Amino acid sequence: MINHKNPFTVGQTVPPERFVGRKYEINSTFAQIANGGHVAIWGGSGMGKSSLLEVLKSPEVWQKRGFDPSQVVIVYFRCLSIEPFLPSKFWREILNLLAEKFQQNDSFYSEIKAKPEVNKDDFRQALRQIGEQNKHLVLLVDDYHVVMHPNSQYKAENIEEFLGECRSLVHYSEESKYLSMIVTSLRRLNDIGPTLTPGKSPWYNHYLFIPLKPFTEQEVVNVLSGLPMTPELRDGIRQIADSNPTLLQNAGFILYNKLQSQEPRDVETFTKDFLATTENFFQDIWQLSNAEEQAILMLIALSSLKGRLPRTKKRYDLGNIEIIFSQKEQELNDLEERGIIISNKTEDKTIYSFASSLMEWWVIQEIKNSDDEKLKNREKTFLNLMNHRQLERVKNVIRVLWKNREDVTSVVEWISELVL
Ligand SMILES: Nc1ncnc2c1ncn2[C@@H]1O[C@H](COP(=O)(O)OP(=O)(O)OP(=O)(O)O)[C@@H](O)[C@H]1O
Ligand SMILES: [Mg+2]
Repeated sequence: MINHKNPFTVGQTVPPERFVGRKYEINSTFAQIANGGHVAIWGGSGMGKSSLLEVLKSPEVWQKRGFDPSQVVIVYFRCLSIEPFLPSKFWREILNLLAEKFQQNDSFYSEIKAKPEVNKDDFRQALRQIGEQNKHLVLLVDDYHVVMHPNSQYKAENIEEFLGECRSLVHYSEESKYLSMIVTSLRRLNDIGPTLTPGKSPWYNHYLFIPLKPFTEQEVVNVLSGLPMTPELRDGIRQIADSNPTLLQNAGFILYNKLQSQEPRDVETFTKDFLATTENFFQDIWQLSNAEEQAILMLIALSSLKGRLPRTKKRYDLGNIEIIFSQKEQELNDLEERGIIISNKTEDKTIYSFASSLMEWWVIQEIKNSDDEKLKNREKTFLNLMNHRQLERVKNVIRVLWKNREDVTSVVEWISELVL
């Protein structure tokens, strides 16, 4: 008899007792903290950034690594909680969280509370206090990418100023030895922050960068362990969820519920239920990708669609897409590290495909449901990737697809074809 509490986690960070893998990332983070260093963890949406920070909050984890938890002050802060972002609000929130930790010794913090505005100097003072107590502050800052987005009161120059302040705080200040900053972001900080100019030192070079990638084979097995399923369904889950933590937990959650209510657990019904619960996830990935990445994803989808539209074979000529891919290696690597695509190297070329076939299906729907006007809007982006002749080929293929809309199967058929 299975337990009534569904052990899979959807829509929130995974509890430490259900946390799987990430040993390398955790070990590297602790090694940096032991050296008084800083870490920038980056990973696509739902890759497990907040869950990793959650684990770092747990005193047992510190104990296990030989740290005395009473010597560290751990503060977790989510940049998305201040909307719109402002440095003064950031310091205020961090100081409030510290004040909660130091209730017994609150003369400093009551002064801070009375101040109409606080800044990094107040935070420095707080750090000094922590140092005087022989403690170390570990500042876990989630969704740090928010800091890079300007708003009406926070312009490009304010972003630079704030990042410069943070850097001098953790690099040059007297109090820096009492602080380790662990930040997470959706993309590598150097890709989304201010570009470097000669004469200025990089604002991010104090961080150890750690990419959070999709799960390994073993981690996938561990997440789904204990769930009885047919080999077909296991393959289906692999096709749909690949090794993405969010998708795997969703898959586990649905299957567990089906198991409990003794509902059918075939690939077809599973796919339908899965898409209904995760549609927003695929939509987010699409929307969080920039125009060039979307164009690359469209090309990957179109090139693998060819064999699936039997009636269009002759008119379906995309030309030499590999040349485009070979010039966009960095962008493709980035999409791969974010868990959206996977690459397969053969002797003479690299073949790219979608990690999740539902993501592929999603992109095909985007193409299928677009029109001449939308296509025109994308032309400029496509022309950054290819010449005019190649663009005409791609446009023709897209028009062939529009004419044969009914040949593009439903999601259920799409997945079933792949698995069965
Ligand atoms: N190490 C892990 N072990 C098991 N499940 C995990 C792990 N990491 C993440 N997950 C699963 O993935 C989901 C997303 O995790 P989390 O919210 O930590 O990701 P995130 O990268 O912070 O997402 P977002 O980009 O939305 O902020 C969680 O609901 C959890 O179920
Ligand atoms: Mg998160």
